[in-house]
Amino acid sequence: MSFVILRSVVLPAVFLLAVVYCFSLTIYRMYFSPIAKFPGTKLAAITHWYQKYFDLVAKRHGGQFLWEIKRMHEKYGPVVRITPDELHIDDPEYWYEVYCNNSSTRPIDKQEKLRYRFGVPDAIFSTPDGEQHRSRRQAMAGFFSKQRLRTSQDRVNQLIERVSHRISTEYAGSDRVLDLGDMFSCLAVDIVTELCFRRCTNCTEAPDFKAPLVGVTANTLWISHWNAYFRFLQAWIDWLPVNVVATLLPLVKPVLDLRVSIKQQVGEILSDMNKSSFGPKETRGTDHATIFDDILASNLPTHELSFDRLTQEAFALTSAGMETVKSTMVMGIFHCLEQPAVLARLKAELTDSIPVPNTIPSWVELEKLPYLTAVINESLRLGFGSVQRSPRINRLHALQYKQWVIPPGTAVGMDSYHMHTNPHIFPDPFVFRPERWLHDPKGPDGRRPLTNYLTTFGAGSRICIAMHLAYMELFVTLATVLRRHEFQLFETDRSDVEFALEMLAPMPRWGSRGVRVKVDR
Ligand code: HEM
Repeated sequence: MSFVILRSVVLPAVFLLAVVYCFSLTIYRMYFSPIAKFPGTKLAAITHWYQKYFDLVAKRHGGQFLWEIKRMHEKYGPVVRITPDELHIDDPEYWYEVYCNNSSTRPIDKQEKLRYRFGVPDAIFSTPDGEQHRSRRQAMAGFFSKQRLRTSQDRVNQLIERVSHRISTEYAGSDRVLDLGDMFSCLAVDIVTELCFRRCTNCTEAPDFKAPLVGVTANTLWISHWNAYFRFLQAWIDWLPVNVVATLLPLVKPVLDLRVSIKQQVGEILSDMNKSSFGPKETRGTDHATIFDDILASNLPTHELSFDRLTQEAFALTSAGMETVKSTMVMGIFHCLEQPAVLARLKAELTDSIPVPNTIPSWVELEKLPYLTAVINESLRLGFGSVQRSPRINRLHALQYKQWVIPPGTAVGMDSYHMHTNPHIFPDPFVFRPERWLHDPKGPDGRRPLTNYLTTFGAGSRICIAMHLAYMELFVTLATVLRRHEFQLFETDRSDVEFALEMLAPMPRWGSRGVRVKVDR
């Protein structure tokens, strides 16, 4: 084919086809889509690039779509069409309908396109299909039961003791600045790797708590929108040799290092288990089972037990358990330090219940403390969890929302930002006020507990599988650290904790150096 034919016939034809395709798609999405009747910005209904713009580039760093959704709700009402194939609802009373009605006859799925954003498409967190998710989750759920976790508190205590010892010996009374985010990230990842894999990463031993692994999670979050939209990026990263990727994309290198190290860990654990399974049971492992013991002993079919899938689960657990726990602890301590009355009340309760500061009470005992519980709930409320909406698809049934019928197969999402900042449920929603959680408070109907509106851990069949572990970490760490130590904020203000960028997890303003303190005691 000559260049002339290419230029005069083929290219114009391709161009014309593309125009016809885009035009037809626009007409379909505007007038014939099953959700064409729902209100919202026309451009958002026509093209996914609307969301991409807010996620990737708006205000230079992206992470702005949540506030665009809020603007749409203010203009169009409680249900809006936010993309060509997704609705968003802002109505706290509808949360349970969207997230909690999963059953064998009403399977609820996640969107297929979201499964690749963290590079772990077969981990439970990413599994779109409701039935497959249920069987994968069942294999791990027992490991995170409250009863089993209670027997693990000693190992959590040891790690908290290590952190507390370092605060006393390396920071107290000196001019050194302690980055609470780094410290709690190290602690959180050590707890997960110790409890789940019996291979503690010992990040809490890193000088200045600057463990390379800790920077990794933030990097993963910063690229999560890009991963979701440009799946080929992840495919290239997986396909190219590690050293090539590291040279081309230095930002991604720590993520690759984490993957390599987890793969190695999983390989070693599996080979240890295989070896020891030949010996008597008492020689298998030393003290406690790993998550792999549970998964391998489950009813999952063999193809679900592949090295690759187990590695993905391990990677997902390590990442999911770091940023979330850290940001809740940082949120709690920041507000206690910023509001002396809150700190004084909490310290009084802790001094009363922990008369000898160098002991660590049991999680069961700590959970009975009303003000500590209130501080944790309020930290979870303003921490928002994984704040991005996690849409659900009811494959077989329509949903009824007020006068609207939502057709089967439609992605419907809600999020904890809209829930937790709703002034009818949480008056003065941006104020950190633990008192709102005291004396068994109720929601707006005067019947349902206020905690029903605390959705930081999600809800229903895909509620955070490690919620009890997270609570144990929060109760034991905050009680120990605040009972023993005295901190002063250092060059830190509200803008270092206030949610400004949505990168799946809530992030403060770009350029924030995090919450830093000096230690008096
Ligand atoms: C304060 C701490 C935490 C918060 C706020 C949090 C929040 C959440 C939320 C909102 C979900 C549901 C996501 C969805 O609906 O799509 C979730 C799921 C999940 N979380 Fe957490 N999480 C926390 C701690 C942890 C920890 C410590 C681990 C690991 C040890 C963990 C592992 C997971 C996993 C594996 C899932 C997927 C569950 C499933 O799909 O069935 N999380 N988490």
